[in-house]
Amino acid sequence: MATENKASATVSLQSDVLDEAFEFDVHHGTIGPSVFDIRKLYGQTGMFTYDPAFMSTASCESKITYIDGEKGELLYRGYPIEELAESSNFMEVTYLLLNGELPNKAEFENFNTIITRHTMIHEQLTQLFRGFRRDAHPMAIMVGVVGALSAFYHDDHDFMDPAQQLTSTHRLIAKIPTIAAMAYKYSIGQPFVYPRNDLPFAENFLHMMFAVPAEDFTGNPVLAKAMDNIFILHADHEQNASTSTVRLAGSSGANPFACIAAGIACLWGPAHGGANEAVLNMLGEIGTTDRIPEFIARAKDKDDPFRLMGFGHRVYKNFDPRAQVLRKSAHEVLDELGVRGDGLLDLAMKLETIALEDEYFVDRKLYPNVDFYSGIILRAMGIPPSLFTVLFAVARTVGWCAQWAEMMGDPSQKIGRPRQLYTGSPRRTYAPISDRG
Ligand code: CMC
Repeated sequence: MATENKASATVSLQSDVLDEAFEFDVHHGTIGPSVFDIRKLYGQTGMFTYDPAFMSTASCESKITYIDGEKGELLYRGYPIEELAESSNFMEVTYLLLNGELPNKAEFENFNTIITRHTMIHEQLTQLFRGFRRDAHPMAIMVGVVGALSAFYHDDHDFMDPAQQLTSTHRLIAKIPTIAAMAYKYSIGQPFVYPRNDLPFAENFLHMMFAVPAEDFTGNPVLAKAMDNIFILHADHEQNASTSTVRLAGSSGANPFACIAAGIACLWGPAHGGANEAVLNMLGEIGTTDRIPEFIARAKDKDDPFRLMGFGHRVYKNFDPRAQVLRKSAHEVLDELGVRGDGLLDLAMKLETIALEDEYFVDRKLYPNVDFYSGIILRAMGIPPSLFTVLFAVARTVGWCAQWAEMMGDPSQKIGRPRQLYTGSPRRTYAPISDRG
């Protein structure tokens, strides 16, 4: 491990067969909680640790992203997310996450050229879209089409080779927005719009989403900046569920395009990337501001499974720094588009105010998270809710690729294999069906 100041932790175990103390190495990170290394625990004690949702488990060592949930801090390679959102752009952040350092001018231009050389997808892949129902959820299309990329880049590829790993990550980062925009165009029956390599990443994406061959399309710089911010803020988030899925899938040596498809599948769920779509669905269900108290009461009722979507976070127990950046963007976008009178967006703003003052939410530190505001911005831009998680996937592909590449280059890397606490039937004997009562 990379840490130098070693300490140790002593764990004493008492059971029917054991009464002994065991010592484990403690490793310190540069910042954040230290870990004690239990890799030899099972060998020494015959016992596992039990931590089903990884509440106290570091699954890997990483140098990419740091989160301090208590302080509400998110750093990419050491840089605070607020500074990056204010002064950087998504391509530069992509370079930073992949390479560990910010690029100089020449490195940035070279990187941009490399990425734009990969923005088109194999023309044969466009046929695949026709196999989907028109009303298919775009995340289903993303899982399918990104997974299918593995069929185009597999046979002659050695994913243990760092040069080929790099090319795969460049392909993924460049092609994902093209595929995402195609999924949208397919769902509304419009022709696919090919990428424009002269446009920056967010502008190109909006162009592929909203341009049509029959008319000129002029982008709006306020919307492009908000889109770029959404991409920056969602680019990585250390070992969240989808990133852990990508790492676990990749740990078997699987094709990286298939691993990213697995990450997309995981991201789809409403407790993860599906939350911003769920926010809009919830606002639709609430309908009018006079019904907010009823839904706040339901969110507090332990017998009701309803939760306020877009509130709370597993790690940020103070505030979500990404939400603070996007709150500002949301107001800029609403002003630019002059849509403040929109019922749903007004409702969202009132819900935010009420929940921020409510004792239940204040006591539990349940603040609006990034998905609350990204949902509002995307809705105002005219992006349908079913596409929200797709945009999250476009951004997070950068983090997934950086984390996958880091894992592949880690000399201690092995196939991931959690164990379990078995509570099923002990061994028993099979009885033929004729003998069962
Ligand atoms: N509405 C109402 N109550 C809530 C909510 C909510 N959104 N979130 C948490 N609580 C309550 C929960 O019932 C519990 O109360 P009590 O202590 O009385 O039992 C307390 O707050 C702690 O909640 P928890 O379930 O232990 O917290 P968690 O860390 O397991 O869950 C969460 C985190 C994000 C899954 C959860 O807050 C949630 O379901 N939020 C809504 C979905 C959402 O917005 N998800 C997006 C997360 S951000 C995107 C990302 O980074 O992936």
